[in-house]
Amino acid sequence: FKANTIHDIHEKYCRGAPLSMCTAYDYITANWVHDSNCDMLLVGDSLSMTSLGYESTTDLPFEEFKYHLRSVCRARGPALIVADMPYGSFEASLEQGISNSIEVMKLSSRVTSLKFEVGLHTKDQYTLNLVRELTSRGIPVVGHIGLTPQKVHSLGGYKVQGNKSLNEMIELQETAMMLQKAGCWSLVLECVPHKLAQYLTSQLSIPTIGIGAGSGTSGQVLVISDLLGMQGSNVPKFVKQYTNLHEEAVRAIKGYNAEVQEKNFPNQDLHTFKIKESLWKNFM
Ligand code: KIV
Repeated sequence: FKANTIHDIHEKYCRGAPLSMCTAYDYITANWVHDSNCDMLLVGDSLSMTSLGYESTTDLPFEEFKYHLRSVCRARGPALIVADMPYGSFEASLEQGISNSIEVMKLSSRVTSLKFEVGLHTKDQYTLNLVRELTSRGIPVVGHIGLTPQKVHSLGGYKVQGNKSLNEMIELQETAMMLQKAGCWSLVLECVPHKLAQYLTSQLSIPTIGIGAGSGTSGQVLVISDLLGMQGSNVPKFVKQYTNLHEEAVRAIKGYNAEVQEKNFPNQDLHTFKIKESLWKNFM
């Protein structure tokens, strides 16, 4: 296999072809994403809530994130790997942000880019500066704006962004432009009204990857557990569920459990190993 490069993604974007990204959190889900030929795989900090049972992405310990990132990187396939920088791994100082970024890049040569959630520009000059420091050191960065779950408290909840006031729309636009100028090669737009996401996409010369941002972005990203129904059908409005793995899994495990209780599994012919009669006689 040949893994997609940022250059490949940029070339696809320039052709006007839609980009696909899906999250993965371990070796097995990473293999699913690679085998589906998605352009990009995001090791998102949504891992915290979808796979580890924490209540927020802000609870995710950096060590646990790195453990999962290593597992993802053991899977081999074409999707370009983007790693989220979890809450607490970069906010203390530029030095902390730079050294943790280098550590994440060094976990595996398959990590191609980092992703940072960025607040609105007037309040989050810090992350903009960090992004500038990283891109000036040759570390590829994806910016993430709109609904940024790590900043849930300063946003006042998990809400659509850029739909309340002119000021909010302008702040989103200015932040997007500043991130492009700071060297981001792509931007994730989360929960932004369709028209605004389409407009921002038309103003930028880097690809936008939307989630809950309509069809006018350069690409789409979904959380794997949402699109596969791994936790049932309780998902945000913007998710399309392509299957319900939770139902499938519970149905299958119930079947296994019932067959164990009824002594129908394992089947004597299909699932057991035999021993030569002569050998058995000697043993007995
Ligand atoms: O953590 C994540 O999965 C994300 C996506 C929702 C973009 O940041």
